[in-house]
Order: sequence, then structure tokens, then C-alpha cells
Amino acid sequence: MDTNKALRLVCDPGLEDICAAEAQKLQGEMPGSAAVAVPGEIRSGMAYLQQPSTDTPGLLRLRTAYYILQDLGNLTASGDAMIPALADLAAATDIPGLATAASFRVCTERFGDHPFASGDVNRRVGAVIGARTPARVQLDNPELTVRVDIRNDTAWMGIQLHPESLDKRYRWAFRPRVTLRTTIAAGMLQMGMRYLRDYESQADAHPAGLTVVDPCCGSGTILLEAAAMLPDATVLGGDIDEAAVAGSIENALAAGVAPRLDIRTWDATHLEEHLAAGSVDLVVTNPPFGVRLGARLNFRDFYLQLLQAAARILRPGGGLVLLAGKKRGLFNYLLRDLPEWRQMDARVIEIGGSFPGLFVLQRV
Ligand SMILES: C[S@@+](CC[C@H](N)C(=O)[O-])C[C@H]1O[C@@H](n2cnc3c(N)ncnc32)[C@H](O)[C@@H]1O
Repeated sequence: MDTNKALRLVCDPGLEDICAAEAQKLQGEMPGSAAVAVPGEIRSGMAYLQQPSTDTPGLLRLRTAYYILQDLGNLTASGDAMIPALADLAAATDIPGLATAASFRVCTERFGDHPFASGDVNRRVGAVIGARTPARVQLDNPELTVRVDIRNDTAWMGIQLHPESLDKRYRWAFRPRVTLRTTIAAGMLQMGMRYLRDYESQADAHPAGLTVVDPCCGSGTILLEAAAMLPDATVLGGDIDEAAVAGSIENALAAGVAPRLDIRTWDATHLEEHLAAGSVDLVVTNPPFGVRLGARLNFRDFYLQLLQAAARILRPGGGLVLLAGKKRGLFNYLLRDLPEWRQMDARVIEIGGSFPGLFVLQRV
């Protein structure tokens, strides 16, 4: 692949294919275009979009990517050799827009063990680029952002095609520590839609659209994403914690989607008290991870009750997308004895150094 002609997308490790597929869809059915994960990298958190359309503003609607980058090149170097190699690349490569930009910055993100910090890369690469241009260094809102992504011994350099990370799309009134990344919420919804059986015929039967539920909504990230991505859907959510319900309603108001959402205080293991049997198309949720409640919660009973409750409200062919934290092995194990669920996808993703399991199940 000619990566010079490709755009590089930075996304959540484990969701590369989902991000690539979304980008592919956004730019339409261009003949010959294809999106592929970065070769040789497991959970790289990057994908390439080949033959990108010239409609970059269209791509900025991507919900599963943090950054869209025009690639400047990549290299492999280990240990102390990495920063000099990046400095050489920054000195030699053509950086579009550098000659005319009034300001620039260098931003680095690293995965892996390195004998240097990201700030060391920013300073050294920034000094090399600064020597090539009259542009001043400006950390906030510069005209040009050069981004360096380091995954172990491989580094990529690119120009960011937008000022801020694309996941910063809400003004949060309520944001507890457990708030899910918007990109992951979007990816979970996209995965659920992918495996929804009889979606077209269901849409005919219910012109009002799909019904999507997050039974453990916390601050409401999945609900906000569902409202934005599925304009015709009925979107419902709830939480056992009244503060979370009040907070997610505040977040929905701040995002301007409150009239689209129905958010209630409920127990996710007794959804039948609120929703009719077979009335829901998609349940998308990340229940407690086991970090805060872990000591008190019997995960085996909780997961079984949650699965039973979801099975009751979902129509046959409907989907459940669930992120299981520390106890992902237990969740996987429990599924073996539950014939009402067919596993469509199961994978491990990465969120800030933890590795939850993402399961997509279909109600048989
Ligand atoms: C990991 S957080 C969800 C985070 C959410 N996706 C967000 O973006 O903020 C899990 C949530 O499940 C809620 N919860 C725990 N047990 C529950 C139950 N039995 N019924 C409903 N919600 C429950 C917790 O109060 C917490 O808000």
C-alpha cells in the first residue's frame, strides 16, 4: 500500500476494523477504495484509509476516530535511537503547509516502554521543524499540528487534519471516572448495527425506527451517541444510581438531545418492569467494570440476571453489545450455557491500560 496517498486514522486499540469500516462508509462507495488495519500490529489503534476522497470535511464526521492524519512517514528504531531517527525524518520530509503556517506544535502519543518521555520527542522534533520555518511554537490551537504515534519500536509521523481530537464532541455537565469514551460507545453501536438480524424488515414494520437501550447508562455516553448516530431511533436508558440518572439527563440537555432520550432510574436486572417483552432491537451497555463496585458485586449473578433481563426485552434477531471489564473471562464462560444467545463477535480492546472484553451477541 502507498501510505503517502492514504490517510491514517488513530482509534481505540482493538477497534481498528470498525473505524476503518466507518471511514470507508463515510466516503461512499469509491471504486477501489479499501481500509486496512496497520499490518503487523495487533491492537495498534490505527487504520489506513486508502484512496481517501478529497472530501476531508465529510470524514471529520467519523465517530470512532480520535485523529485523521496525512502521513509523513514511519520508521523503526529502538531505545535511544528513536528520537534521533524521528529528528532525521522531521528534517528530511516535506511537511505540507509548513512554509505558510504562522504556528505549529508537535504532539506525541506512545505505547510501550521507552527510555524517553513523549515531551522529549515533542521538544526535539519541534526544534528540528522550528529550524525550517518562521512559524512559532503554539501549544493551543496552532495552525499546524505534527503528530507522532509511537507503538513500541515503530513510529509514525503525520499532519493532523483538524485542530482538536474528534472525540471531544460534548460539553459534559456530569462526568464520573467511569464515563466511557465516546469513540468506543460509537464503535459498540456500529458493531451492534452490523449484526442486527432482519433490520430492514423491522424498519418496515416500525417506521419510527429502532429501539436502542442502555440499561446501565452512567453519564449517558452510549445514549448521546445513539441519538446522534440513529436519528430515527427511540433511545432509552437508565441506571440504578439516581445521581447518574440526573447527570445523564443534564448531559443530554447540554448536548441538545434531551427530547430524544427517555432516561429512568431502574435496576438493569429487572428491565421487564419498564419495557415490554420483545420490544427492543439493540441493547448496548458497559455495566460495572469491577473497579469501584467490584468488592460488593457478585458478578456471576449480576451478569446472568442482566443477560436474562436483556433476553426478555429483545426481539429475536436483536442484539446485545456489552463491554465486560475485569470479569470478561467469567462473562465468556457463562455464555457457554445460554442457548438463547449467539456470539457474533468477541474481542479484547484497550482503554487506558486496561483490557476489557467486547461481546456482540444476537438474541436467537
Ligand atoms: C461503567 S458505568 C457505565 C458508564 C457509562 N457507559 C458512561 O459512559 O458513563 C456502570 C454503571 O452501571 C450502573 N449500575 C450498576 N448496577 C446497576 C444495576 N443493577 N442496574 C442499573 N445500573 C446499574 C452504575 O451505577 C454505573 O453508572
